[in-house]
Amino acid sequence: MRLIISESVGEWAAIYVAKKINLHKSEKPFVLGLPTGSTPIKMYNKLIELNKKGKVSFKNVVTFNMDEYVNLSENHPESYHTFMKENFFNHIDIKEENINILNGNAKDLDEECAEYEKKIESYGGIDLFIGGVGEDGHIAFNEPGSSLSSKTRTKELTEDTRIVNSRFFGGKIENVPKVALTVGVGTILGSKEVLIMATGYKKSLAVYNGVEGSVNHMWTISALQLHRYGILVCDEKATMEL
Ligand code: GLP
Repeated sequence: MRLIISESVGEWAAIYVAKKINLHKSEKPFVLGLPTGSTPIKMYNKLIELNKKGKVSFKNVVTFNMDEYVNLSENHPESYHTFMKENFFNHIDIKEENINILNGNAKDLDEECAEYEKKIESYGGIDLFIGGVGEDGHIAFNEPGSSLSSKTRTKELTEDTRIVNSRFFGGKIENVPKVALTVGVGTILGSKEVLIMATGYKKSLAVYNGVEGSVNHMWTISALQLHRYGILVCDEKATMEL
């Protein structure tokens, strides 16, 4: 695993993503896995800027988002559909049909997840998966205890995650959905490259367990150690337990 310490985590990640897209010479689209959360916002801002300046184009990019809440309307201000449109997709030259986000309102959630995996496979897998990390070390919504070979599925959120995410739901845990759809740890590990971002003291325990801890399903970020091309980009504060 490469550990990069930078005070501009988002910018670093954006420049890396743009470089990878620009180096991709094949006719086939570049397949990018994307996260939500507060950490990636700076990356999205920088990518929007690079796109507007003509330094990177998303015309030949297909995206797959990591996760989505179950039973939250797509138009809800805190759905990941809304987040992605407002923070990224509405501002870049991506084609609508190339955007993939799990449907947490699908009639058959298992089928929705299986189809998502099939669609990823149909593109030959994900070229670069970008992620953030929860305070408890979860990547996407792979909560502690998730199988390290898991694929896309429904996942019950832990109380800890719901408490942390309640800041987006008027501070009320009862407003935070209890279940989400999420790509699995195995889905993420199946990508050609994985880049995880972590900023701030609150992520330092997750970074410690991801970098110096043993590979284990209680800190799913530690699965990054199993990836040949795994990158963890952190600011100084997030490395304080190392
Ligand atoms: C949620 C998302 C994760 C994200 C995490 C951390 O749980 N499902 O993908 O990494 O939040 O979010 P933040 O960057 O806001 O700390």
